[in-house]
Amino acid sequence: MKRRTTVLTSDDYQIAEVDLPALGEGQVLARVLMFALDPYLSRSMQTWVGETPAWGDGTIHGRLLAEVLESQASSLKPGDLIAGLGRWQEYEIFDARRVQYIDDGLTPPSLALGVLSGSGLTAWLGLRVAELVAGETIFISAATGTVGSVAGQLAKQRGARVIGLAGGEAKCRHAVEVLGFDACVDHRAADPEGQIASAAPDGIDVMFENVGAPSMDAALPSMTFRGRILLCGLAAHYNSDRPATFRNLAVLLFKQISVTPLAISAHAGLLSQARRELYDEIAAGSLVYDETVVDGFENAPSAYLDMLAGVGLGKRLLRIAGADEHRRPG
Ligand SMILES: NC(=O)c1ccc[n+]([C@@H]2O[C@H](COP(=O)([O-])OP(=O)(O)OC[C@H]3O[C@@H](n4cnc5c(N)ncnc54)[C@H](OP(=O)(O)O)[C@@H]3O)[C@@H](O)[C@H]2O)c1
Repeated sequence: MKRRTTVLTSDDYQIAEVDLPALGEGQVLARVLMFALDPYLSRSMQTWVGETPAWGDGTIHGRLLAEVLESQASSLKPGDLIAGLGRWQEYEIFDARRVQYIDDGLTPPSLALGVLSGSGLTAWLGLRVAELVAGETIFISAATGTVGSVAGQLAKQRGARVIGLAGGEAKCRHAVEVLGFDACVDHRAADPEGQIASAAPDGIDVMFENVGAPSMDAALPSMTFRGRILLCGLAAHYNSDRPATFRNLAVLLFKQISVTPLAISAHAGLLSQARRELYDEIAAGSLVYDETVVDGFENAPSAYLDMLAGVGLGKRLLRIAGADEHRRPG
């Protein structure tokens, strides 16, 4: 990143050449194939300051998929696929103990950056923390992103009525016709508050909130008495310097609504169960997942900012040139 800012634009990013350190014992040199364009990265991008960058040298640091080229670790060999946290670079040196080996059977391997990474696990955990039960109505914002789409499908399987919120008619159609939501409200169309009220005539028991004030404010009047809000994310606010405003804040008090913030880091003991269940769902074909892939390192800034603004379905990924050449030896 070039400078400190609260509202990111493509001009705030630059590509630079850096030298990699020598490969040490227990490490691997890997070629990066794909980056996950995750909303939470905005925070480290915005708080970078020239003298004290958030990630050591100011390079963006996120979840990525890579192919091992050279190994000085007994657990990994050239050709192996790995996923983990690393810099947005074409090549990176990883400590073998800190990366996840991606099994041959995982198809496509990019699932390790989407449904089988923090995004899918968050959806699974969020429903559990919200204590959603059959027969309840759940409202899910950013319904066609990875978190929202997985949460919606799992909520349907658990017997809930599922109402999504998404940007645009095509995304809403996708939520209903492909992901199986009962209804989806287009927040770009007129009167989202009225649309939500029509879609939830018996009220919303659980709000699975991924967006923030614009979405919450529209859905609050439809909440049931003692409804629950699972505060998962604030995507509308990550790249904005405008204060969050609410017209319907009083509903929180008068309907005795509870707000529970979600942090997957607080549920480390459940993550392997969540990952296993999601893996089984994908293997059985009972969970739909979407990916939107943008090619080319130079397109990373615009792809990232487009993701925040709502371009694309499901997991937004940046593929580095040459990633398709990956072939497992033998
Ligand atoms: N708590 C945790 O531990 C945890 C872990 C992982 C992720 N999260 C959070 O979960 C949320 C979803 O993550 P994701 O990776 O699946 O991202 P995502 O839903 O793919 O991307 C964010 C989406 O938010 C929607 N959005 C942005 N501004 C909006 C606005 N003003 N009004 C309505 N919608 C708006 C856009 O979709 P539309 O086109 O539909 O508008 C955008 O594509 C994020 O907030 C993320 O930070 C939390």
